[in-house]
Amino acid sequence: MKWPQSVLSACTLAHCAQGVQALNFTGLQSLVQRQIPQHSDGFIFKSLDGSGDKYTIVDTPEKVHSITISCTSLSACARGLYTYLTDVGNVDIWWTGSRLNQIQSPLPPVEKSISGEAIVPLRYHFNTVTFGYTTAFWNFDKWTNLLDWMALRGINLPLAWNGYEHILVEVFREAGLSDSEIEEFLSGPDFLPWNRFGNIQGSWGGQLPMQWVEDQFTLSKQIIQRMVELGMTPVLPSFTGFVPRALPIHYPNASIVNGSQWENFDTSLTNVTFLEPFDPLFSTFQESFIRKQMTAYGNVSHVYTLDQYNENDPFSGNLTYLHDISAGTIASLRAADPDAIWLMQGWLFFSSSAFWTMDRIESYLGGVEDPNAMIVLDLYSEAQPQWNRTQNYFGKPWIWCELHDFGQNMGLEGNLDELTNGPMTALNSPGSSMKGMGLTMEGQEGNEIVYDILLDQAWSSSPLKIADYVKSWVSRRYRTTHTPADAQNAWRILSTTVYNNKDPNSQATIKSILELRPSLTGMVNRTGHHPTLVPYDTNTTVLPAAKLLLQASNSNPHLRHIPEFKYDLVDVTRQLLVNRFIDLYLNLLNVYNSSSTSPNDVSSAGSQLVHLVNDLDRLLYTDESFLLSTWILDARQWAGNGSQANASYAAYLEFNARNQLTLWGPDGEINDYASKQWAGLVGEYYSQRWDMFVKYLADLKANGGVYNDTVISKQLLSFGQDWQNRTWGVTEDEISGTKGDTFEVVRELLQTWG
Ligand SMILES: *[C@@H]1O[C@H](CO)[C@@H](O)[C@H](O)[C@H]1NC(C)=O
Ligand SMILES: *[C@@H]1O[C@H](CO)[C@@H](O)[C@H](O)[C@H]1NC(C)=O
Ligand SMILES: *[C@@H]1O[C@H](CO)[C@@H](O)[C@H](O)[C@H]1NC(C)=O
Ligand SMILES: *[C@@H]1O[C@H](CO)[C@@H](O)[C@H](O)[C@H]1NC(C)=O
Ligand SMILES: *[C@@H]1O[C@H](CO)[C@@H](O)[C@H](O)[C@H]1NC(C)=O
Ligand SMILES: *[C@@H]1O[C@H](CO)[C@@H](O)[C@H](O)[C@H]1NC(C)=O
Ligand SMILES: *[C@@H]1O[C@H](CO)[C@@H](O)[C@H](O)[C@H]1NC(C)=O
Ligand SMILES: *[C@@H]1O[C@H](CO)[C@@H](O)[C@H](O)[C@H]1NC(C)=O
Ligand SMILES: *[C@@H]1O[C@H](CO)[C@@H](O)[C@H](O)[C@H]1NC(C)=O
Ligand SMILES: *[C@@H]1O[C@H](CO)[C@@H](O)[C@H](O)[C@H]1NC(C)=O
Ligand SMILES: *[C@@H]1O[C@H](CO)[C@@H](O)[C@H](O)[C@H]1NC(C)=O
Ligand SMILES: *[C@@H]1O[C@H](CO)[C@@H](O)[C@H](O)[C@H]1NC(C)=O
Repeated sequence: MKWPQSVLSACTLAHCAQGVQALNFTGLQSLVQRQIPQHSDGFIFKSLDGSGDKYTIVDTPEKVHSITISCTSLSACARGLYTYLTDVGNVDIWWTGSRLNQIQSPLPPVEKSISGEAIVPLRYHFNTVTFGYTTAFWNFDKWTNLLDWMALRGINLPLAWNGYEHILVEVFREAGLSDSEIEEFLSGPDFLPWNRFGNIQGSWGGQLPMQWVEDQFTLSKQIIQRMVELGMTPVLPSFTGFVPRALPIHYPNASIVNGSQWENFDTSLTNVTFLEPFDPLFSTFQESFIRKQMTAYGNVSHVYTLDQYNENDPFSGNLTYLHDISAGTIASLRAADPDAIWLMQGWLFFSSSAFWTMDRIESYLGGVEDPNAMIVLDLYSEAQPQWNRTQNYFGKPWIWCELHDFGQNMGLEGNLDELTNGPMTALNSPGSSMKGMGLTMEGQEGNEIVYDILLDQAWSSSPLKIADYVKSWVSRRYRTTHTPADAQNAWRILSTTVYNNKDPNSQATIKSILELRPSLTGMVNRTGHHPTLVPYDTNTTVLPAAKLLLQASNSNPHLRHIPEFKYDLVDVTRQLLVNRFIDLYLNLLNVYNSSSTSPNDVSSAGSQLVHLVNDLDRLLYTDESFLLSTWILDARQWAGNGSQANASYAAYLEFNARNQLTLWGPDGEINDYASKQWAGLVGEYYSQRWDMFVKYLADLKANGGVYNDTVISKQLLSFGQDWQNRTWGVTEDEISGTKGDTFEVVRELLQTWG
């Protein structure tokens, strides 16, 4: 069951006319033009014979100040360009923006040629839910920078979900369903990933307008074309089986069941209706779906994302049943596209491990007989690998994925050692069918170093040396030839402590209790999925790092103008404050619990908490990357701008944007799952909740009442329901941008909370 190398050539994943095509560098030249316009003719790309992903970089022999990059694949050339820009040019492109145009002029020579080669054929990007937590409201400008970021880092297999609903709606219409039957099925714009997963159906706060579906389809065509131009094979959607409740009315004899309940949602919003893949109707829908998709985007990919049981257990655990489900699914894909490859997230085998016994996993994966017809994402490899308990997914090719971030929560954390050594060990283990490495973060936020290092490891045949890696990463990030020692020291501390987290119970961004619904119990030291346990000592890590960064900005004032430096200073100070919050919270509990204290003591202990929350809000307001308004304005933009704006559509979009951050569901079904430390949200929402909680405790103290979590919880829920219905003004000046000076605010906060 060996996966032949040739199977993973660009021509196997995508459609190629005949054999290997000559590489078309138009997309890469456009990337250079976009990112480094002053050197738009400074790079020559050439095809190189050979398999795999290899590149070579040399000074162009016949032309000074010009660089020639040769490669066996477009992705390898993009990575070659990146290697030149970062290693020779000391510039990079970040989530905070591209600094590539700050490379020196004329272009620095390579002198001695540089070569590189990917150690795995697949470099993957995205979790299905990243399309809800991060990119839900993005326009093509934001996508442009991310796609360049991805291509340069060598990603060649990204998920491409936008536009799914356009195709799906067409399939359902063709099947005879009415628009209202279809609309009842679809979820809100930033909740679509869970609709696609069959976790939820329908919406709260209004139905998804068809305008959204059409606008996303337009966006999708741009994204997919750009992916292809940049050497990436988009992983396209397919028909999953999840259908509107009304389907059985039109097809009374079809094999249709209800899925399981998701996260306490009411049955009307979950138990999603599922057309079983062994029913011929499933194949009919699949063929229709794939034909329409090919017509829309061209023949750009053979790889299809398809998840039927993500946090949604099968109707039956019968082994034959599970085998028949996957056999029917792959047959439907292959009938529509004879070279189809099914890509699935492996999260279910971890999250629902009680259901997914070994024999069930084997039956389900075994329904796909051709080992080359499936790729499994080992979704949480850095903490909860499943490949090693499933005999390498019973021989199916799989990808080592870093999950790390849930719900786009914020909190410094990482395990650099595992991210470099872990994939190498898996790749070299006996019988390994690992074929790729990639990122499956739920939300793309902060901690950029932990994502960079994994993508860089994919091009290094030995584990990266962490100390050297961090040093050059910092030097590039702060774009100075001589990065101040203080800044390097700050990162040396962080990389050996916060980013050297070996605690198996807190392998993910550490969630701050400040963002959780206040309660007397159960807040601190949570472990597992959403850890609140802080696995390092703040006083010897985050605190000195913040001080050192501030010091660096004093001795080297030019650092103040580097957006990534400012971002990091805010981020580290933010972490200091939220960690300090835990101490204040525990103090409040003690004061409340003590028989010798008064209601005033409770209020004054509580006011310290609220003071800190408001300080945090002030800090976040100083940097554009930490604003609630960005998320909300990104949502509202789809309703048009200025006098053209459709006010009720804008309010609908804003409700959805706010609900996901807070209640996540009509009644707080997964309350605070996707919480954020954003200016505006912290000051308007979390601050109010803590204030209400403190008042509640002080009142109990005064009246001798007994704490009742249900009572305070209801009050806070009702406040949340009110808050999410608010809307921002439609004129620009009513919308807050940044305010305050980062360096002054940090100096003051380090005095208060240091
Ligand atoms: C190369 O790709 C560009 C778009 O990226 C396209 O316009 C052009 O026709 C392609 N050239 C060839 C020779 O296929
Ligand atoms: C459903 O099956 C019944 C019994 O086999 C048959 O009489 C009926 O025509 C079928 N209905 C449809 C819509 O195929
Ligand atoms: C699925 O659930 C809905 C809503 O409760 C119910 O009306 C329907 O009969 C169920 N369908 C099946 C196939 O069980
Ligand atoms: C919803 O799923 C749960 C199991 O998760 C099940 O107990 C319940 O009967 C289902 N309801 C419907 C209407 O299918
Ligand atoms: C796409 O591929 C299908 C079969 O795989 C073929 O029938 C169709 O002609 C192709 N379309 C284009 C535009 O190349
Ligand atoms: C599983 O389903 C098959 C086919 O429907 C059936 O023959 C078999 O008896 C079932 N097995 C069990 C253990 O229920
Ligand atoms: C798989 O690897 C993880 C991480 O190293 C380890 O915790 C786990 O016990 C392993 N599982 C099996 C079945 O070997
Ligand atoms: C949380 O865990 C730490 C050790 O990791 C311990 O020192 C501390 O007492 C715990 N705090 C509470 C409130 O349980
Ligand atoms: C950390 O420093 C704070 C402020 O000086 C102090 O109150 C706290 O006890 C220290 N914590 C530890 C674990 O040393
Ligand atoms: C409050 O005090 C009681 C007994 O004095 C103790 O059992 C309980 O754990 C304390 N609770 C908190 C939150 O400190
Ligand atoms: C807490 O309040 C709820 C709702 O008001 C009530 O139903 C419940 O009995 C109370 N619990 C206790 C322990 O008093
Ligand atoms: C919030 O808005 C929704 C949708 O417009 C409405 O149904 C609901 O009643 C409002 N809730 C509150 C608490 O105002």
